[in-house]
Amino acid sequence: MLITHNHQLMRAEAGKAAANLNGLVDVGLLLEKLLTNARRLVRAEAGTVYLVENGQLRFVTSQNDYLQRLIISCQELPFLGSNVQIDRSTLAGYCAFEKTALTVNDTNDIDPNLPYQHSKFIDNFSNYDCRTIMSMPLISMNGDLLGVLQIINPLDEGGRIIDFVKEDEEVLSFFAANAAMAMEKALMLRRMTLLSVRLVSGNDPSETTGHALRVSRLSTELYSHWSLKNKLPESEREYILNILPLAAMLHDVGLRYIPREIMVKPGRLEPAERTLMESHVVAGARLFSKPKTSLDRLILSIIIDHHERWDGRGYPGGNQEMPVIPDVIYGTIAPPSQAVSPLRNRGKKGEEISIYGRILAVADVYDALSSPRLYKESFDESLAVQIMEQESGHHFDPQVIDSFMAIRPQLKKIRLNYPDNEIFSELD
Ligand SMILES: [Fe+2]
Repeated sequence: MLITHNHQLMRAEAGKAAANLNGLVDVGLLLEKLLTNARRLVRAEAGTVYLVENGQLRFVTSQNDYLQRLIISCQELPFLGSNVQIDRSTLAGYCAFEKTALTVNDTNDIDPNLPYQHSKFIDNFSNYDCRTIMSMPLISMNGDLLGVLQIINPLDEGGRIIDFVKEDEEVLSFFAANAAMAMEKALMLRRMTLLSVRLVSGNDPSETTGHALRVSRLSTELYSHWSLKNKLPESEREYILNILPLAAMLHDVGLRYIPREIMVKPGRLEPAERTLMESHVVAGARLFSKPKTSLDRLILSIIIDHHERWDGRGYPGGNQEMPVIPDVIYGTIAPPSQAVSPLRNRGKKGEEISIYGRILAVADVYDALSSPRLYKESFDESLAVQIMEQESGHHFDPQVIDSFMAIRPQLKKIRLNYPDNEIFSELD
């Protein structure tokens, strides 16, 4: 009777833990929370999430309290991003192939006659024994496999690894079924956003989904560091970290309206052509001129501000040839020194530029410097960083450059993790 009561309580907890994911639109943040909540339900020390991509399982999220105590961040684990086949040979593969939960209470003692075995590769590399593993399929409303959740090493009160019991499997399977619904929504939104970016890339071959994803992740990391350093309230940080990745992907959506011959023209643009090209910020902002949600408002401020410069010499503010931008788009803050004719655009500088625009500027230029373009080869990492640092206080907000310099290794890793060709395959 007591077990039944406990079981009901755990099921209610599992329902709450899954409902907690509903407002999340960023896939990365959602998977981190999904894993944290699942581990908390059964007091597990570690866990992993795989996503289905191109017919394989991609290792995308990992948490491990034991390794974290040794100051080994799971983000640094080299096998993140690696793939597992969907077949019966591994625990995650079997769970995905059969779309069924699989519990193994001692990975060192799996019957050799069973089709699956536990690969010791990751355990050996990280010096961590994944002894007890529950694998749970994450399945969409219409039965498609979205991924696999693996929960590793449940602990007792004394911190010793214990076996999973039948109730754990039932509770986690209830959680996974509900969490998968939130996951499916976030994956759909990400796919729709990437498809919008692909429409833009039809006009400008350098404006790829890879660039959009890199700028999205780079700006999210920069915001995360900057907002911690500036002690922003945790609720505000979390709110922005949830919607910024999507918003940032759309920073150049206005390029869709710029003639292709200008986008692909080699060499320098004539002044009139340059103004036309720069008007992509106005064209993009017009799409969001009647913002209805906070995501719309964030996208709008990113589009309109991402080419402004800290010293005031950016655009659209600094270019008076630009089509006039209505106040509703451009913002209403006009310092007296810049209160020019209402028929002309007001230049923005310093903190008049939204923090999101200031952050996007750093992410966008860093990625542009480090990637090949029609008119140039990519710069090597040290030269790109040197240019970014030199532009602190000129093109860029010095505080954002401080964050950039503090997290350079993470930023470099993001760039390398999202090569152009691989990102395209996410949509195909
Ligand atoms: Fe742009």
